[in-house]
Amino acid sequence: MKRVYTVAIIIAVSCSLIGGGLVYKKHVSDVAQAAAQQRTAAALKAKQQAAAAKLAAETAAAAAAVAFNKQQYSADAPDSIWVVANKQRPLQPKDYAPTDLVVPQIPLRLGKNSSEMQLRQAAATALESMTTAAEKAGVHLMLASAYRSYNLQVSVYGNEVKNYGQATADSESARPGYSEHQTGLAADLEPVSHQCEIADCFVTTPEGKWLVAHAGEFGFMQRYTIDKTAVTGYRAEAWHFRYVGIGLTTELQKQGSTTLEEFFGLPAAPSY
Ligand code: DAL
Ligand code: ZN
Repeated sequence: MKRVYTVAIIIAVSCSLIGGGLVYKKHVSDVAQAAAQQRTAAALKAKQQAAAAKLAAETAAAAAAVAFNKQQYSADAPDSIWVVANKQRPLQPKDYAPTDLVVPQIPLRLGKNSSEMQLRQAAATALESMTTAAEKAGVHLMLASAYRSYNLQVSVYGNEVKNYGQATADSESARPGYSEHQTGLAADLEPVSHQCEIADCFVTTPEGKWLVAHAGEFGFMQRYTIDKTAVTGYRAEAWHFRYVGIGLTTELQKQGSTTLEEFFGLPAAPSY
């Protein structure tokens, strides 16, 4: 009997040892498997981070590659849509005259035979699109003054000096050879009703308000704003719009820039 017990005990102890061994073995294998999983996860994370960094670098490089090219058009050539004319930058030559002037098909303040109702082709086409869009919004634009030759500016500026004195004239009228109007790219606009014609209250008219919000969509910028008189050299002119093309107006808006001088890094031009 005692022998039977002994055998039973031996069997029990053996089973227990074998079982324990198996459990231990399984534990070791689980730990190894968890460590391997961790290594795989870490490797995956590192791979994902490297891919993200590569993508970011590629995106930045692509953005740099399509960065706005400020040299795309000349700021000096008088026939460039980006020409910057101000009191420090006369047109060269001073008696420059564009060669592609046309009369835009929009309401005009003067007869269509008046040279002052002309604009360069690209500006005229853009003005026609802008006027059509404005009409759809119930806003009625009219062209007050556009191209002014050197000789016409002699007369316009001369009258200003005669009527208001030179200091006032210089604050609102360019000397001949210095006016954007001579480039054929500037348009003074007013409501068809003549309300606030070339006057500060133009900003309160539906036409004035619509232009502030939408002119940029057609490549026109308000050139002489109230907060930049020290840069442009002119008092605010809510009616004076300069055609520079949609590419530039879009970029100006993106950068929050409101003068050509600041955008192109040119000196301010408060005086001659
Ligand atoms: N009124 C603007 C400054 C011009 O005469 O060109
Ligand atoms: Zn003007």
